[in-house]
Amino acid sequence: MKGVLLAGGTGTRLYPLTGLINKHLIPVGESPMICYGIERLKKAGVTEIMLIISKQSAGLYTDFLGSGSSMGIKLTYKIQDQAGGIGEALELARGFIFPGERFVVVLGDNLFLDDLKPFMDKFEQQPAGSARVLLKRVSDPRRYGVPVFDEQNRSLISYIEEKPGKPKSPYCVTGIYMYDDHVFERIAATAPSARGELEITDVNNMYARDGKLEYDILRKWWTDAGTFESLREAAGKMKRAEF
Ligand code: G1P
Repeated sequence: MKGVLLAGGTGTRLYPLTGLINKHLIPVGESPMICYGIERLKKAGVTEIMLIISKQSAGLYTDFLGSGSSMGIKLTYKIQDQAGGIGEALELARGFIFPGERFVVVLGDNLFLDDLKPFMDKFEQQPAGSARVLLKRVSDPRRYGVPVFDEQNRSLISYIEEKPGKPKSPYCVTGIYMYDDHVFERIAATAPSARGELEITDVNNMYARDGKLEYDILRKWWTDAGTFESLREAAGKMKRAEF
């Protein structure tokens, strides 16, 4: 399976650090944040990775990571000209993913300790055109996409509510998603949200509506390192990325 690592976001909540450097290059422990996503993908056997980056920081990524050969991976870069949401960023991977091919998507600010391989293996068993998302039980689901489970078939999500005032479950949909090339048709069918972005939750809800959205729950530590508090916590958990 190939991997797509999204690192284009601006990270306004981490200003002034992000005034100097792209969010995904901020040090976490001894490595820049982006290294941990690469590490998790590589440990799961994903060696062909597309990195979606912003034009302002492209040179920093290529200087630091190069072709990926020193890490034993093959990197392809794609520029996201402006922040237009996760859906728009993911659309840039069209062409990298061949017809019928399956792939895993990781948001570069999602840091976690679970091995992705068992989840990818389960996704391989799903029918073509379906999707799988990874969930995590969190103390404040209101900050995230929150799944509502299908009461008839507990292996399915019936819909996801994005940042709900009254969450219907204690889980968040993490930024780890699995799709095949059908996702590009789904993205093309979404419209920009009120904040002008193509929302990944809208894409995932199309799968959910069709009874094609399965999930797993992360057992180990996970964070979305978008705030100073989560960044500090992450630095204590993620010491150094090892390839
Ligand atoms: C995005 C998704 C949200 C998900 C979160 C995980 O939120 O929209 O569903 O729970 O990533 O990191 P954002 O960080 O863009 O607000």
